[in-house]
Amino acid sequence: MNNVLVTGGAGYIGSHACKALARAGYRPVSYDNLAYGHEWAVKWGPLEKGDILDAARLGEVLAAYKPSAVIHFAAFIDVGESVRDPAKYYRNNLAGTLGLLDAMRRHGVEKIVFSSTCATYGIPDIVPIAESAPQHPINPYGASKWMIERVLADYGHAYGLRSVALRYFNAAGADPDGELGEDHDPETHLIPLVLDVAKGARPNVTIFGEDYATQDGTCVRDYVHVSDLADAHILAMQGLEGHELRSAYNLGTGEGHSVAQVIACAERVTGRKIAATRGPRRPGDPATLLADPSLAKSELHWTPRRTAISDIIETAWRWRRGR
Ligand code: UFG
Repeated sequence: MNNVLVTGGAGYIGSHACKALARAGYRPVSYDNLAYGHEWAVKWGPLEKGDILDAARLGEVLAAYKPSAVIHFAAFIDVGESVRDPAKYYRNNLAGTLGLLDAMRRHGVEKIVFSSTCATYGIPDIVPIAESAPQHPINPYGASKWMIERVLADYGHAYGLRSVALRYFNAAGADPDGELGEDHDPETHLIPLVLDVAKGARPNVTIFGEDYATQDGTCVRDYVHVSDLADAHILAMQGLEGHELRSAYNLGTGEGHSVAQVIACAERVTGRKIAATRGPRRPGDPATLLADPSLAKSELHWTPRRTAISDIIETAWRWRRGR
């Protein structure tokens, strides 16, 4: 059996990647401490409970399964929290990854697909953002991911590690078969919050700023379906086997939607009124983030299939209303 170690395999994107791995004929071995992940989300292979900072446990799991590659999702992702408590982010995201890379070296695992983010770009000068754009992260979360990208490049030169970083824009939506979906606690992301309002689980959603230089004054983001993201990891991992890949690829649709457009679309999809209130800007939010995904398409042969925002919200709604 071709085992692939998926750190954070019980999380939102990790669990969708496990499903995609199983479909492609691999056995995903989830390594997760279940601090934010869910046991119910691990359905396509074994769950090995463990912390990313636990070197002995990681070594044990690598020795037991001898994976051909690692897909590394395990990380904290709350930008605001990373500003308030950077130590938590550098310890887990940065030191945790260094420990993982050491364990991989000890056990002769040479390939890693790394979960990176458009937050490594900070506030872009030019949108859509190409991979060659300068990376100036503006918060510890983005900085921790950017530092790992740098580490991976250096380990490649020095130790022959083969890696690729995938810089996601706004992961959204849920498994179209309804087996998986987004379940963060606390939830901070726009689409699940909006759908909670549609469901009656929250009274309203706050729009963080209506005075941005965008078409309607609200922030524009590039929402990319989580199953499309999952597929890109398989392609990237397979790409590491053969031809030379770049060190990083952007994963987004290249199309932007404002907060107001997302809310309006969610009203159409759910058939319900969604109460929204005006709030101040959220610190650290760029007006517009948009991917130029052309390299992922031409070099990874990635074809996102659910690019319509209505499709993305529809899958998320089917998941969320059933919870
Ligand atoms: N927003 C609101 N109200 C809310 C929540 C969000 O108006 O209650 C707005 C935000 O200001 C932003 C947009 O909706 O303009 C999307 O916000 P999310 O919190 O859903 O997503 P982010 O763009 O902040 O974050 C995502 C990832 C992060 C990553 C970041 C990169 O979740 O991990 O993109 O910028 F770091």
